[in-house]
Amino acid sequence: MNARDLLRSVRMAGSASGRRQTRAAWRRRRADARDLPRRGPERARVPGPAQGAEPAPGGGTVRFARSELRVWVAMGGAVFCGWDGAAPLPSYALAGGGPEVDARAVLEPDKDGWRVVSERVTVLVSRHGAVEFRTPGGLLLRRELPPRWWDAAGEGAAPRWVQGSQTPADARVFGLGGRAAGPRLPEGTYRLWNTDPGGSFGPDDDPLYITMPVQFVVADAGCHLVFHDTSWDGQVTLRDGVEGAGSGHDRPGGSEVRMEGGPLRYWVVTGTPARVLGGWTALTGRPALPPRWALGHHHSRWGFGTQDEVRRVAAAYREHGLPLSALHLDIDHYDGHRVFTADPERFPDLPALAGELAGQGVRLVSIVDPAVKAEPGLETYDSGRAADAFVRDARGREVRGVVWPGETVFPDFTDPAARAWWGGLYRERLAKGFAGFWHDMNEPVSFAAFGDPTLPRSARHGLEGRGGDHREAHNVYGLTMAQAGYEGLRRLRPQQRPFLFSRSGWAGMQRYGGTWSGDVATGWEGLRVSLALVLGLGLCGVPYSGPDVGGFTGMPEPELYLRWFQLGSYLPLFRTHSAKDGGRREPWQFGPEVLGHARAALAERTRLLPYLETLSHIARGTGAPYVRPLWWNSPADRALRECGDAFLLGDALLVAPVLERGAVTRTVRLPRGQWYDTATGEAHRGPGQVLLDAPLGRVPVLARAGAVLPVAGADGGVELEVWAPRQGRTGGGVVFGGDPEGWGAPRMERFTTRWADGEIVLERDDGEPVGYAFRVRGKAS
Ligand code: NOJ
Repeated sequence: MNARDLLRSVRMAGSASGRRQTRAAWRRRRADARDLPRRGPERARVPGPAQGAEPAPGGGTVRFARSELRVWVAMGGAVFCGWDGAAPLPSYALAGGGPEVDARAVLEPDKDGWRVVSERVTVLVSRHGAVEFRTPGGLLLRRELPPRWWDAAGEGAAPRWVQGSQTPADARVFGLGGRAAGPRLPEGTYRLWNTDPGGSFGPDDDPLYITMPVQFVVADAGCHLVFHDTSWDGQVTLRDGVEGAGSGHDRPGGSEVRMEGGPLRYWVVTGTPARVLGGWTALTGRPALPPRWALGHHHSRWGFGTQDEVRRVAAAYREHGLPLSALHLDIDHYDGHRVFTADPERFPDLPALAGELAGQGVRLVSIVDPAVKAEPGLETYDSGRAADAFVRDARGREVRGVVWPGETVFPDFTDPAARAWWGGLYRERLAKGFAGFWHDMNEPVSFAAFGDPTLPRSARHGLEGRGGDHREAHNVYGLTMAQAGYEGLRRLRPQQRPFLFSRSGWAGMQRYGGTWSGDVATGWEGLRVSLALVLGLGLCGVPYSGPDVGGFTGMPEPELYLRWFQLGSYLPLFRTHSAKDGGRREPWQFGPEVLGHARAALAERTRLLPYLETLSHIARGTGAPYVRPLWWNSPADRALRECGDAFLLGDALLVAPVLERGAVTRTVRLPRGQWYDTATGEAHRGPGQVLLDAPLGRVPVLARAGAVLPVAGADGGVELEVWAPRQGRTGGGVVFGGDPEGWGAPRMERFTTRWADGEIVLERDDGEPVGYAFRVRGKAS
């Protein structure tokens, strides 16, 4: 223990909870010292020279002196590479049974080794184990260098490994889960270990709640995503390339992935950004479709205190004429912070409250924490013990930690039986009238006076029957909790789509729901970070997220609150939330001027709901996030790769939030094409920069010339907004609608707009009448 830890634990000894956390930290340390496999002497290994190759469907195996590499192409174009016999399964990331092989691709000899040629990518394996991914035209996208392992003697000691790679000098990397430093990730080392930063976080905090070994790489040659499929603790070091470095040659950029264990296997998906996300979500599962109500405004608070206060807040939203879709109850509504309970005095009749709110169009959402109070007689604890659902240590004893309710145990969500038991617990929540679920503290957190605030690394997990410890299970704890909740809800309420979002998660979490920013610190930096997280997660396949509008900690100044509110109103999850002592976040708390502008932002959100619903279906169908980086349709525009202060909302809109105090104008970098300022109708031509007005009352939003998007008309019905295409050009858009909460197949209509005899006409692609009122906007040019 270092001096800081010691000081902290002495200070914490002053309170009962502090003493508990000190004991827990010591317990964890002892367990790991006793039970973690000791690493014996290690031996470094590289593949060595190639000795031969055998083709197999979709690719084949190349044998090296000290390892072997399996390469094959899946239907859809994703490439799998597995060293040392690693296969795609088992994997927590892949959906279903994994993808099928594209039998058309074959491994064949090449001049320096072997190659696999497929429709979308050419893979070259060198005689020393380097693997190159090239476009069909031959441009280099990525070169994976021969890996290196450290084999350890001793039982249970998994080999550590490192995999270096090179990318073109102009390449830029995004993703790695939710990273405050993003969206474009600067050079540096990023740990792969889901972590609650504790209290709150700002731009320099890393890692955060969701880490993923997923790199989305954008370069002139093309885009690709690489996913190193192992959930073990590890890190990724990114290095930027330099063009024309030393004697005019480029120095490539690249990454080094270092893992403490787990299989050395990875997937590469190439193509345009849309194709990459399509391929990635074909592999790991398409994003869950939120119910329509989840696209409205949500309000949350840690500390409503009583159900009457919840009523009062809902009534005040109505009185102020502010639309509200959901209210979220935090841990203070539990009985003594025990999950799946409600305080009988302060929240005596939740079903009645839920019923009343539902009558006003407001859903109740419940927080769900994974830790269960270790209290015999408590139903959740007793039933969990009976199901043998809690994590145990190597000696078979329940692992105890400390979370809000005091001493707790932790369900082992990597065990299918534990997931089934946990999923059944949502019955109690549904009976209380909750419509949606907010998973928290699932990194998982166990408060500790010192050291890592999570379970011991030696804690045992089922891992789908394979058995292993927390070093492997940690990063998939939140993902498998989401799976348990999602599957439970499907069983309990089969006719409705589950709505859940989760603080922690891993590759593939989008199958079960979304996420939110976690405890972003109140401040202008926190505002900027909020957008970075949403963009980065979207590129990792998780399209539904949003920040705590106003920041989690401390009262934001009115201007900051308003700018956050305006940004949030264009993000998929639009939720105001704050810490218990962080002040309130209702729009009327910030004076009449802010209230007026917040009302306008809410009105615009309401108007855009049909468009957001369309985007939710597009995300579901294709993996394309609602919120996209500016380079989405122009990845070769290098200036856009560095631009993290604006975003595309679907294909039609470009949103440029104000992220600086006092700013009333904004410089906006435009992708190529013609863009209309939606406030003035004025046209601007990209690529380039424009300076736009951004008075306190609004943030700049531009519409792409030719865009057709569905919006809510004054009577609430859907109308189409058509942005004039450039003279002689065409445009179009798609409209999805249908079942708001169930599983009915969506309805999809496509529209084209064009010039005919000096007029703009709108047509439905199937030749049927348009069927909607529509309005043409934008000054023709
Ligand atoms: C931490 C979560 O990030 C936050 O949103 C929540 O309010 C607190 N836990 C209390 O449940």
